[in-house]
Amino acid sequence: MTAGAGRTGRAGRAGSVRFAAAHTLPVLVRGFVSARPRTGRGHAAPGRPRWSAATLRALRARHGGAPVLVRGLTGTVLLILDPQDVRQFYAEPVDTLALASAPGAPDGCAHAGLRAERRAVDDAVLAAGLSVHPSCGPFLSVLAEEARRLTAGGSLELARARHVVARAARRIVLGDAAAEDVELTRRLGRFHDKTGARIAAYAADAEPHTLVGRARRHADPTGSLDPVGQARQWLSAFDLVPGLMLRTLLLLGAHPAEQSAAAAEAREADAAKGALPRLRACVRETLRLYPAVPDLIRITRAETEWRGVRHPAGTCVLLPALFHQRDPERVPAAHVFVPGRWASPEAARDIRMAPFSHAEGRCPGEQLGLLVTAALCAEVLRGHRVHGVRPALDPLGPLPAALEPQGIRLRLTRR
Ligand code: HEM
Repeated sequence: MTAGAGRTGRAGRAGSVRFAAAHTLPVLVRGFVSARPRTGRGHAAPGRPRWSAATLRALRARHGGAPVLVRGLTGTVLLILDPQDVRQFYAEPVDTLALASAPGAPDGCAHAGLRAERRAVDDAVLAAGLSVHPSCGPFLSVLAEEARRLTAGGSLELARARHVVARAARRIVLGDAAAEDVELTRRLGRFHDKTGARIAAYAADAEPHTLVGRARRHADPTGSLDPVGQARQWLSAFDLVPGLMLRTLLLLGAHPAEQSAAAAEAREADAAKGALPRLRACVRETLRLYPAVPDLIRITRAETEWRGVRHPAGTCVLLPALFHQRDPERVPAAHVFVPGRWASPEAARDIRMAPFSHAEGRCPGEQLGLLVTAALCAEVLRGHRVHGVRPALDPLGPLPAALEPQGIRLRLTRR
């Protein structure tokens, strides 16, 4: 069947059930109901990625690439399976294709009324357009200090990585006074508690280079913004870093030549300035294989048209980013770790790949997230060689579909 203008596929009952079981339900449940509060606006919780590539490929073949409407228990989802529709997904203004957010969560209105203003604060404070954040110097000092705990035991697993990253995140977002406040991190996911007051208290005295320090200086002509309140989202977003760092180091453990090159970069003088292009490429490639946000979800706020077919406002549109960026029909060596594919600046604009999304919804913390993750990896690699203990990865064979951070264990030996 060829998909042309005027076509939207509609999955049959069996196709919908298979899709819902493997994909939609876990994503929607994860995104809207349960674990969402654990991470910030724009981030699904770093839970189990679902691998439904075979189902998606079958749907794409059956419907000739046209967007497919699939039914799930929570409603109907318009699934984007072809590059031409991926292009439209990013081209639609965010007023029309709105980022889905959790009903009832404090950020539930983030993408309606004040979205543009909040986004301006995010962009300014996180320095979205700059590869090296203006507070890079103090941030790298914090990361170097905290990273000593990463290598202390000769082995590395999730609990230690989370402890270290959470401490660093509190210092970067709220300042050194918050370093010890483990309870604050634990309470971040809960609403209607005293976390907001605690964050405001730290913010009042935070050093100027911290994120809240920068937010304090942000102009608010409307008088209706709460830039300091956004600190909660920024803190939560750092929760993506421990798993990302462990996966990157595990992949480097299985690719010794890449590891040696990354370690050499970590020892160069420029490393102190946070550039680390090779390590950043390794982090991006890890995210291509194991994205922190495997599905991008939007809710339409007006009627939209896809290949000549109109869909009413309120349609849920799902872009399965993981499927696209690991699609062997369109991405060379799709299941292999090839950091070099990110060497050219155009790679970050390639819409087949979306570890940080694209266009108006693109992650404003992209560069800061890359800086932090690459700098922590650099701290480990500077003095240590990393060996993956588990899971075992075959550097030549296709990499596994999922890599649960909880299951990763690394051994570190002195260089
Ligand atoms: C390091 C790993 C990170 C990854 C992989 C990541 C990924 C993403 C993605 C894919 C989105 C867009 C979601 C969508 O389009 O539905 C997003 C949004 C967002 N991210 Fe990140 N992010 C990371 C780190 C950070 C950090 C460190 C911060 C802040 C400190 C941050 C703040 C945000 C915010 C505020 C949004 C919402 C943007 C909006 O509403 O327009 N992210 N992130």
